[in-house]
Amino acid sequence: MKIFLDTANINEIKEGVALGLVDGVTTNPSLIAKEKRPFRPAVEEICAAVPGDVSLEVVATDYEGMVKEGQELAQIAENVVVKCPLTRDGLKAVRHLTNKGIRCNQTLCFSAAQAFLSAKAGAFYISPFLGRLDDIGHVGMDLVREICEIYRVQGFKTQVLAASIRNPLHVIDAAKAGAHVVTLPFGVLEQLMKHPLTDVGLKKFLDDWAKLGEKI
Ligand code: E4P
Repeated sequence: MKIFLDTANINEIKEGVALGLVDGVTTNPSLIAKEKRPFRPAVEEICAAVPGDVSLEVVATDYEGMVKEGQELAQIAENVVVKCPLTRDGLKAVRHLTNKGIRCNQTLCFSAAQAFLSAKAGAFYISPFLGRLDDIGHVGMDLVREICEIYRVQGFKTQVLAASIRNPLHVIDAAKAGAHVVTLPFGVLEQLMKHPLTDVGLKKFLDDWAKLGEKI
């Protein structure tokens, strides 16, 4: 399972890439707005800093607008994947852009039925938002499992990108479910690395070593 960072913050992205753990990035209009930077130079810098795919989202809501914006976004860099919302027009735009050779990430997916249609439309990634389902009392991970099963049984090539990740357990469960990618905030990446017993164990090793007075 690949790890993407769900951020438009260039410092977090560079740090994640330097760690050697980050395969790609997803952004959305809210994450872009949070950075308060001019759009073009900001996303060009992100695309240049990341070895893998960078999802950039359209803001038009009609088919023609999404196609126009998608084509413009795709020209920014070779690793751009165009994000379209999972609406009627969004499905149509994904079909059109995919036919033109532009890879799409269909975002804001909240049901297996939506995910099925998105695969039929040819999406490269489907993004089920599991944290937002959890927020309203549904089990978001059930949706990830269901989509993985449908795609496997039906032989769809669309990759399942588990999104709206809130904690390390989401990451582990998405991996068990068979998600191809998980996109997470930088804070969750840091949480994944940590365990109190690692810190305690390391301190003991170093204390014992210091007492010995040796050098490597
Ligand atoms: C996915 O690509 C979205 O950017 C993201 O995961 C949304 O997550 P949120 O629910 O934390 O905003």
